[in-house]
Order: sequence, then structure tokens, then C-alpha cells
Amino acid sequence: MSIRALKGFKDILPDEAGVWQHIEATAREVFHRFGFTEIKVPILEKTELFARSIGEATDIVEKEMYSFTDRNGESITMRPEGTASVLRAFIEHGLQVKLPVQKLYTIGPMFRHERPQKGRLRQFHQMSVEVLGLDHPLLDAEVIAMGWLLLDELGLSVSLQINSLGCPACRPAYKEALLSFLAARQDKVCEDCQRRSSTNPLRVLDCKSAHCQEQYQAAPSILDHLCPDCADHFRRTRAGLDLLAIPYQVNNFMVRGLDYYCRTTFELLTDALGAQSAVGAGGRYDGLVEQLGGPKNTPGIGFALGMERLVLLLSEQQPSAGLSQQADLFVAALGEAAGAKAFALLHLLRKKGVRVAMDLAGRSLKSQMKQADRVNARYVLIMGEEELAANEAVLRDMASKEQSSLSLAPALDQVCAELIKKLN
Ligand code: HAM
Repeated sequence: MSIRALKGFKDILPDEAGVWQHIEATAREVFHRFGFTEIKVPILEKTELFARSIGEATDIVEKEMYSFTDRNGESITMRPEGTASVLRAFIEHGLQVKLPVQKLYTIGPMFRHERPQKGRLRQFHQMSVEVLGLDHPLLDAEVIAMGWLLLDELGLSVSLQINSLGCPACRPAYKEALLSFLAARQDKVCEDCQRRSSTNPLRVLDCKSAHCQEQYQAAPSILDHLCPDCADHFRRTRAGLDLLAIPYQVNNFMVRGLDYYCRTTFELLTDALGAQSAVGAGGRYDGLVEQLGGPKNTPGIGFALGMERLVLLLSEQQPSAGLSQQADLFVAALGEAAGAKAFALLHLLRKKGVRVAMDLAGRSLKSQMKQADRVNARYVLIMGEEELAANEAVLRDMASKEQSSLSLAPALDQVCAELIKKLN
């Protein structure tokens, strides 16, 4: 029996690769426009890094991490997200000394042992951005605007929800208010919510059960409990979004699944992917650098976009995105002498940047024309035995079916130069 991939782990097949490349190239281009540089961080980290940042009482740390003990007896985890690793690297290499505000992005696979479904995998890919060293509310608006612009440039329409989760000064009072609200409703909510009420009460607001949601309609709002500084920060973040004409809805029940957030949080949502509605999400995490042993007063904000969800959305909303011409030219050579000449010509063309293919096995003309179709070639250069005897090849435009001849008499680099002229 053949071996299949693990459940929730997916191959990205050649047919899909163009869309992935298109998304990644567009993202890099947008990120660079906003002054971000790439950082590459390892897939494996000490388990403690995630427990200390994402939070012990989160679903990710409690039930979803791929953790194991390595050969040295150390507990290791395959990263479930990018922020913790980027911050670890930032601290370890003292990046704040080099630049007061660091704008970093990273792209790569993440691992969570969730129940797989459409848009939800166990190995998935994120494009994750982080800005460290500034807590100005206009930065929050700018970071959100970058995500918005990227999705717009990909031709995707999503909606934006924002919230503020307050700070260590104002959240405890909100937690108290929420706890007393929950205490009166323990018998009316699901078991998960009952458990969460004692471990991580804010998370109950994110419960997927419609019955629980009904109960929480009347729950106290975090936005009524913000301290003056947080309220002002949220007001100015919203004003920044207004200045950029980015539409948003305030969702005071958005709590996020990671514990490190404070103040601004946001989600970019779609209703086209069933239950997996967030194509991207993020927020501010002002205390996290210090909490991980880094320098004090190093605020941060960031977000991550889920690549698989973007690919799904793009194939629904922009089916032709990322489809590219695989070959400018296919050289169909027949017979050994023509094959040898074509083989040498191919290398010269590739040196000059032409995307060109040929059939090394020299099958029939019919079969080679089929191959040319398969690689979506714009032109086919036919070098048959007859043509070779006359020192000429035939160039066919595959769209218009027009043909012209190309002299093979000059030296091969001249033939190459002539051919390139005809292709342009
Ligand atoms: P997150 O909300 O856990 O945040 O994940 C961000 C995005 O990753 C989600 O909106 C979704 O598109 C994608 N995603 C998450 N889990 C899966 C999955 N199992 N399958 C497919 N896609 C998934 C974070 O990870 C934070 N580190 C974001 C951040 C960066 N906050 C600040 N900086």
C-alpha cells in the first residue's frame, strides 16, 4: 500500500504553485513599500517560548502544539505561529540597538493540531509581520492599512473588525465585571465556557455555540472599561483608519485566541470560507518583549495572513490570478541532427532569459505540438529534417497561427539573437 500524507498536511501541487507565488510576490512587494524587511526564524523552538508568550491557558498551548522531547531530553515545539519566534530573535540579537523601530516580516509553515476542515490545516502557512519599538496609534492604523492594501491589490474583498483589549491597568476590572456576569450564568453555558470562566474568562466571548452567544449578548463590554489612555489610543487608531478611508466595524466581543494581546486587535474576515472566516488577524502586544526577557518599553504590533485561506479565496474571487505563461517558446526538433542543434540553441536562449522547452526524446511532431500546448507556449519553433536541409526553421505563433521562417544558416548565437527579436 502506498503511503499518504498525514491528515491536515497538504501538498501544494504544481497547478497551484503559481497562485502561491503570486500571493507571496505581491505581499513582499507591499511589505517592502512600507519599510519591512524579511527575517527567517527556525521552525523548532523551546516549548517554553510559546507557553510564555501565547499563554498556558489557550487552546493552542493546551491542546494544539506539536511538542516532543528531543534526543537531549529537551521539550521542543514546532512553531504554531510566528510572533513568538520573531520576538525571540529580536531579543537574542539585540535588534533594537540597530534601529529604534524594527519592521519585520516572515513567511513560512506553522503547525497546530486542530480538526482539519476547509481552510483549516495542521500545517498551514502564514505571512506574518511585526513592528517593534513604537506604540503610536497611527502605527496601528498603518499596519492594518498595509494588510488591507495587500488584500486589495490581490483583488480580494474582506471586512475589517477591530477592538481594544485594554492594558494591564484596565483589564483586571473588566475581568472582574465579566466574571460576576458569568458567575450568574454558569448553568446556562457549555462545559468549555464553564471551564474557561476560571482559566481564561475573556475567551468565553469567542465561544462558537449559538446558545452561549445568546447568553453573552448582555455581557459587559471591554470598551466601557478602558482606562483613559487606552480609550484615547483606540480613538486615535480609529481616526487613523478614517483618515485612510478604511472601513471597519468595532466588535467589542473580539478577544483573539492568543493571550499576548493588549489594546488594538483586529481581524480581516470573509464569509466565503464557511466557518474559517479569518483570512488574517493580529493586534498589539506591548508587554510581550519584556515578558520574554527583552528590553523594557518595547511595544509591538503585528498580524498574520493565512496563505491557504488566501489561495482558496483567490480561486473563488479571482480564478485567473497567478496563472502564468509557462513557456515563451517550445522548440520541436525532429531527427538527431535537428535535435542536437535545438539542444544547443535552447541553452543560448535560456542564457538570454527566454523560457523555452523542448522534447529531449524527440517524439513525433504531433506529440511535440501537444507538449507545446501543455506548457502553454506562445510560439513553437519547428526544426524538422526538411527544414534543416533547407537551413530554415518555421516559427509559429500559437495564438494567431501565423508562421514565419527563421534562417539557420548563420552562427547559432546570431540565430538566437534573430529569434529573440521575433519573439518580442
Ligand atoms: P492567528 O489568529 O492565530 O494569529 O492566526 C492568523 C491567521 O493564520 C488566521 O487568521 C488564519 O488565516 C491563519 N490560520 C490560523 N490557524 C490556521 C489553520 N489551522 N489553518 C489554516 N490557517 C490558519 C497569529 O498567529 C498571530 N501570530 C498573528 C500576529 C502577528 N499577531 C501579532 N503579530
